[in-house]
Order: sequence, then C-alpha cells, then structure tokens
Amino acid sequence: MRHVSKPLMDVIVDLQYGDCGKGKVAHFLCKTKKYTHVLRYNGGCNAGHTIFHNGKKFITHHIPAGVFFGVPSIIGNGCVVDPQQFFREIRELEAGGVRTKAKIFIARNAHIITPAHKAEDKKEKKVGTTGRGNGPAYRDKYGRTGLRAQDIPALRPYLINLYEEWNRPPRARAKGGVRILAEGAQGFGLDIDWGDYPYVTSSHCTTAGALLNGLPPQTVRDVWGIAKIYETYVGAKKFQPNGKVFDKIADVGEEYGATTGRRRQANWMNMQTLERAIRLNGVTHIVFNKTDVLKKVGRWAVIDRGSQREFKSERAMQDFVVKRLKMLGIPRSRVYFSSSKERI
Ligand code: IMP
Ligand code: MG
Repeated sequence: MRHVSKPLMDVIVDLQYGDCGKGKVAHFLCKTKKYTHVLRYNGGCNAGHTIFHNGKKFITHHIPAGVFFGVPSIIGNGCVVDPQQFFREIRELEAGGVRTKAKIFIARNAHIITPAHKAEDKKEKKVGTTGRGNGPAYRDKYGRTGLRAQDIPALRPYLINLYEEWNRPPRARAKGGVRILAEGAQGFGLDIDWGDYPYVTSSHCTTAGALLNGLPPQTVRDVWGIAKIYETYVGAKKFQPNGKVFDKIADVGEEYGATTGRRRQANWMNMQTLERAIRLNGVTHIVFNKTDVLKKVGRWAVIDRGSQREFKSERAMQDFVVKRLKMLGIPRSRVYFSSSKERI
C-alpha cells in the first residue's frame, strides 16, 4: 500500500479579545511558508480582518487571508456563513484585483446566518454583539433547527466536504501532503467556554476549535499566539479603567472595530490572561502587535496578579515579558514584537 501523508496544520489564535492583528500574521505566514489551504475555523462575519496587500487595505469578514496569495481558502464547518456578506466580499476582492475564482470554498456542513438571525441580533443589548447574527445562528445549529450551506442553492459552486478535502488521495499523497494554515477569529477572552461569560461570542476560539473542522489532534504543528502589547475589548461590559492614558492609547492605536466601527475600550496587558491563553492554546510562537502605540504614548505597563506594574522603557517591559514566556516554554527566538502594520 502506498504511504499517505497526514495533514499538517499551523494555527493562528488570538490570546486576548480579538483585534490583535491575526490577519497580518496570516498574511505573513502565507507569504513565507507553503500552505495548500487556509482555513477559517470559527465565527462568522462578526470578525473583521484588516489586511494590507500590495499597498491596498482590505477588510474581510468571512474569507481567509489565503485568497490574497491564490491559496485555496476555506470557511470551515466551525463557522457560520451569511451568504449575502459572502458574495459581497467576493465582489469587493475582485474589484480590488484579487482573483477569487476556484480559490474560495465553504464546508457543506457549515451553518447559515439568515436575515432573521441578523434582525434578532441587531436588537441584542446585554452582550453588545456585533449584530451580525452570529449568536442566533449558533443557537439554531445546536438547537438542531438550523440551515446548512448545502441547503442554499447559490452556495453550491463553493461547497466542499472537508473530510474528502483533507484526505483525498491525490493531494494527500503528493509530496508534502496537505498543509493547512488555520486562522482563528475573535479571541481567548471571547471564547464561549474560556472567555468572560456571558460577554463572549458563540464559538470556539481556541486551537481546539481548529480541530473540530475534520482534523485529528496530531495535525497541529506550530501555534502562533497573537496578542497586542496592551488590551482592547469591544462590547457591553465595562473594561477600560479610569485614567486618561487609556483614551490616549485607544486614540493613538486607532481602536475602532473593523466590523462595527465601535470604539474599543483599552487597558494594560493582563499577564494572567496571557498565561492562561498560552497554556490552553499550546502556543509555540507569539507575536505582540502595536508596540509603536505605547512608544508614542510613552508609557509601558502590565497588570500582574491584580496590580499595575509600570516600566521605564519599552526595553524593560519586553525583558519582563520575555522572561515570563521563557518560564512557559517559549524561547526568545519565537517571540516577536511588531511595530508595523504590514510586517511582524
Ligand atoms: P458576537 O460575536 O457578534 O455575538 O459578539 C459577542 C462579543 O464578541 C461582543 O462583545 C463583540 O464585540 C465581540 N466580538 C465579536 N467578534 C469580534 C471580533 O472579531 N473582534 C473583537 N470583538 C469581537
Ligand atoms: Mg478584528
């Protein structure tokens, strides 16, 4: 019998409350490593990925970053799909010069966000959702009353069976085999189980969520944890402490949601949230984005065991963080501090 190589996957996962810059890292990894697929594994069009490609800014909600490089891009069964938004995004990408033909796929068993889901979600007040129908769509999925992508005739040309895609002989047997970049949406603090319930989203935002898309655990190779050098959150709970510095951080960081345009609340990075997220996701590489923002603000601090710990310089803060990461098994060579919108 011929040897069939097993699929292999790198995962990009957000360690805070979303908006940490996963899109940028996905873009970087697609450019530097060879993947056969990019997989969006959770969430719906509540997500907003801002991607700078060939000097142009794109915001995608559904479609994974692979499409910018001609890598087949899949919306997995862990996601919920709004067909209207899906087709709008395809039109926008094409208009921006990105070829999408035969590059974008939807798992046939992914669930659908209907107009009724959106109408219901727009009235939601308690959690402060994005109003994109995410929660109601997942509720109907688990209530076993939902519609799946395979039930929508207009989506038929895009549908795939993920089991077949990951295991189908020609690709699986080819040299290198199936190599997936899995792109998470939202973040650890918004995870349905591990986030700050009920101020959470309705999907699995952790590395484990990627596996739910038809992949065995042995598939996982690298886990890229993405954080910001400070935290932001958007939603109904009070998150930002008193103090002018937080408004300044949000102003300098241009902290407005890519999906709803809402102002994000800001706080210092919480070391215990970070540590939990690193352990639970099995992070092997970590990127801290937006270091330029604190530099412009001229203050550096973290929350550690409930109290604020201030540093005199960027260097001092980074040394502190690097030391903590070392204790968690992440060496300096796998830690990136990024100050650029386009590079890590
Ligand atoms: P939902 O996912 O629209 O149900 O919203 C639930 C919570 O998650 C709200 O606080 C949203 O603001 C937040 N949220 C959902 N998606 C994102 C995202 O992509 N980035 C940041 N926050 C998000
Ligand atoms: Mg976002």
